Amino acid sequence: MITAGMDTSVITTEWAMAELVRNPRVQEKVQEEMDRVIGERITTEADFANLPYLKCVVKESLRLHPPDPSHGPPQGHSQCRRGLLRRIYIDIKGSDFGVLPFGAGQRVCPGAQLGISLVASMLGHLLHHFKLTLPEGVKPEDVDVSENPGIVTFMRTPLQAIATPRLPSQLYKLLPVDM
Ligand code: HEM
Repeated sequence: MITAGMDTSVITTEWAMAELVRNPRVQEKVQEEMDRVIGERITTEADFANLPYLKCVVKESLRLHPPDPSHGPPQGHSQCRRGLLRRIYIDIKGSDFGVLPFGAGQRVCPGAQLGISLVASMLGHLLHHFKLTLPEGVKPEDVDVSENPGIVTFMRTPLQAIATPRLPSQLYKLLPVDM
């Protein structure tokens, strides 16, 4: 469970970050949604139900970069290939047979919902707090979007991005948490 759940969620988050630094307009739309729904406070679990655009970005990232290479790249989806986020309400949990990042049938991933929530949480917290940009002089087309061959599809060249704080400074302090 740990092996199946950790790499896959981390890989999806890194690919989503890579797509968002390559597509700043989409990153801004995620941040606009978070500013409107959450504003200047720390995101809580309850907020994620009100962030449909963020969830669509997670799903689109899973469609473009399925972490398990045996579950295929997005060829054959002419409608999808026309633009990021065009078909946003796709079912990615095993009943749309063109998009199967979690597999399907008897062997479908039992952690699919948790995986989507983990990625949305990591990505959402990160994007609410930081604007992600490419290092100076690096153009979007320079980002290496090839995959490392293997059981799971890590980026061949780890993403390098600059994280710039975008919320008031008191929101970056360590907070006591009830465990
Ligand atoms: C973005 C996150 C994730 C993706 C893309 C993903 C994808 C997959 C895929 C493609 C399979 C293989 C299905 C098949 O054999 O056809 C699988 C299996 C599995 N996944 Fe996930 N997974 C994710 C997250 C998780 C999480 C968070 C957990 C648990 C905490 C988990 C637990 C498992 C387990 C136990 C299996 C084996 C199921 C079996 O063999 O019957 N996965 N996953």
